[in-house]
Formats: sequence, structure tokens, C-alpha cells
Amino acid sequence: MNLLLLFMDSNLLSLDKSLIWHPYTQEKNAPGNVLITKGEGAYLIDNAGNRYFDATSSWWTNIHGHAHPHIAQKLFEQASTLEHVIFAGNTHEPAIRLAEKLKTYLPNNQQKFFFSDNGSTAVEAALKMAFQYWFNRDEKRTKVLAFEGAYHGDTFGSMSVSARGLFTNPFKPLLFDILTIPVPTENNIREVLALVDQWVQEHAIASFIYEPLVQGANGMIIYDAAHLELILQKLKSVNVLLIADEVMTGFGRTGKMFACEYMNTEPDIMCFSKGLTAGAMPMGLTSCAQSIYDAFYDDNKEKTFFHGHSFTGNPLGCAVALASLELFDTEKTLDNVAMITTWNKKAVASLQQNKAFENIATLGTVLRFDIKTNESTSYLNAVKLRCMEFFKAQNILIRPLGNVLYFLPPYCTTEAELDYLLQTALDFGDTL
Ligand SMILES: Cc1ncc(COP(=O)(O)O)c(C=O)c1O
Repeated sequence: MNLLLLFMDSNLLSLDKSLIWHPYTQEKNAPGNVLITKGEGAYLIDNAGNRYFDATSSWWTNIHGHAHPHIAQKLFEQASTLEHVIFAGNTHEPAIRLAEKLKTYLPNNQQKFFFSDNGSTAVEAALKMAFQYWFNRDEKRTKVLAFEGAYHGDTFGSMSVSARGLFTNPFKPLLFDILTIPVPTENNIREVLALVDQWVQEHAIASFIYEPLVQGANGMIIYDAAHLELILQKLKSVNVLLIADEVMTGFGRTGKMFACEYMNTEPDIMCFSKGLTAGAMPMGLTSCAQSIYDAFYDDNKEKTFFHGHSFTGNPLGCAVALASLELFDTEKTLDNVAMITTWNKKAVASLQQNKAFENIATLGTVLRFDIKTNESTSYLNAVKLRCMEFFKAQNILIRPLGNVLYFLPPYCTTEAELDYLLQTALDFGDTL
């Protein structure tokens, strides 16, 4: 490799160290960052030309692979036509076409679409919609119900409805109080349903927010659709608004286009981001039922939804999201999702043979397992770094959640690549 280029790259990395504050990173003892210069399909390529398999789809965002030519082309065309316009008082075709197309994939009751910038803001908008829905109707309902261990984002509202713990400890006194129920299992479902009854009797609950079927940041905890259905039915029967946070589960991740499709009860509000733009542009979207929208639609201007972001409805994000949905049709993306789903089920059996692993589970394109450890099983577990280093040496980028190792690959991944991931996991298990 060219010495001058190497020098320039090491200069870049020292500039990075001196200037940039990376997310979820203890900068004092973090290993050096990888300088990524290119993305290609399921791979990320560093400055030295090493190709790394992106086993977590770049924080669960990527769908069709990096730098997909169709997405790049549509982004270029949109950028050369209209890059942005204030979305209050104006509108544009990419947003309209995206809403039109996305509506065909969603539960029938989802009728209106509100744009924002990321997953946390999609959740903020959903929570505010739900609170104001009751306010506009003059009904005092101000409590939110959520699952224990939930993660819905890093803004104050989304932190408030998330688990109290490592991520939220410094802000605990500032977060609004919520009600919680445990994630349902075969063993606790009766108690969970009884607790739902109790909360409903004791509190005026405005909304229930949930990550349908997979709790992502909590350790890719997978739970049963039949159990969620029972909880949703109960809450629906007393008109608690159901907010499905599909920021991680949306766009094929759980095997169906949306995890909500596994249940009969339709959510009132849905949150999207990450896979919405196939991981190519930051964008958030909150959809809702007509009844929610109608509670704001009034001659009284005080009933307006006073919420918006500078980049609401950004045409670049919309064009890319639309291009991604086109790819779902032209590349038959859900067929590959089905291949990964089937492969994951077989991989569970192989992982069960390895004594280093436990709690192995899969849903759709998510495969997760715990690395057995004597240490506390928190996000800060030391096995995480060891595991990342081992995989990196095999040209795979992963990011375990503490001692929870998971694979959540882009959908363009091949069977051979999945075999390699599994073999690397088994080899790592053998070192423990
Ligand atoms: C279920 C869920 N909701 C919301 C968020 C927040 O999304 P963002 O990181 O884009 O703010 C995440 C992020 O991981 C998530 O998994």
C-alpha cells in the first residue's frame, strides 16, 4: 500500500481521536476505530483494503447491502432535483409516493404519515400524538404502559418509556413515570395479564408502547406472538392506544415485512426508521389510524399537532425509502429473508452443541445467543470486547450487547456467508 496514503489515514485517525465523540463509546479505553472507506453489499472495506462482513447491518439499519446502485441512483436524481424544502405549507412527490406505497404494506387501519429524522423522534412523535389525542378529546389519560427492559431511543420522551438502567441512570429523576409489565413468557403470561388488568383499573392509561416480538437493545429478547396478542386484545378492549415501535423490527427483520403481521390486533400508531431508508439516509416516520388524526382535525387551532423538525419529510430520505421498497419488489428481497430465516433455525441446533452458549433463539433474520459468563450479564460485560476482537480477526464486524451475541445481517447475505458467521461463532465458543 502507498506509504503516503497510510500516512494520510493515520493522520485522519488521530484527527478523529482529537475531534470526534463517538456514540455509546467510553473514549478512554475504547479500541481504535476502524477507518471505513467504502461499503459494498454486505461488506465494509477499511483504508487498508480489508473487507469486513457487516453482521449487524450497521446498527440494524441496512437492508439491501451497502452502496446499492439503485438506491445511489435514486438519491443522486433526487439530490439533483430537490434536496429539501420546508414541509409545512409545502409538499412533494417523494413523500406522497412513499406514503402511498408504504400504506399498501401496513395494517389496514394505518392511514396517516408523520415524518421525522430517526427512531427516537418517530417514538417522540408517537407518544406526543397519543398524549394529545386524549387531551384534545378532553379525557385525562396521561400514563404510558411499557415492557420492562424496553428500549425506545435516547431522547427524553423515548428514554422515559424505556427501561431504567445503565443508559438512563444519570437522567432518572428527570424522566416521567410509567407503568411496566414483564415481557411475557410461557411461565409468567397469567401474571402479566393480571398485572395489565390491575394497571388498567388503577390508572388512566393513554398508550402502550412495545417492540413487537423482539426487544432489541435489551439483548434481542424474542417473545411469543400469541402472548403479545393477548396483551394487545386486553388493552384494545379498554381503548388504550397501541404504539408498535417497529424501528428495529420493521422492513422484513422478523421474517414478515412488519412484526405486527404476526398478531391480529392492529396497532393505532406505528414507528419506523432504520430499515425505512434501507440504512442509507436518516429518517423517521410515525403512522397512525384515522381516528388519531381525526382528534386533531378541528376548527379549533389549539388542537393542532405542534410538532415538527427542520428536516421533516426530507425528499432525499423519501426518495431512498421509495427506492428500497422498489427493491423489495424487483429483487424479491423477502425471498432472501425467508432463506436467512430457514438457515437461522438450523443454526440454532448447531449452536446448542457448543457448551459456551445458552438461550439460543431466532426470529426471522435475527439470531441471538448468550455467551455463558461468570461475570454480571450487563451491557458492560468484558466478553463483549474479546468477542469483537475475535470476529474482527476473521473479518466480521459484530457488536454484542454485553454477553449477548447476535447476528442481524443485511438481506443480501448468502448462505455461504451465514455458514462462515456460524463457524466463527463456534470457533469463538471453543476458545472459552
Ligand atoms: C426499537 C427501537 N426504537 C427506537 C430506537 C431509536 O432509534 P434511533 O437510534 O434512530 O434514534 C431504536 C434504536 O436502536 C430501537 O431499536
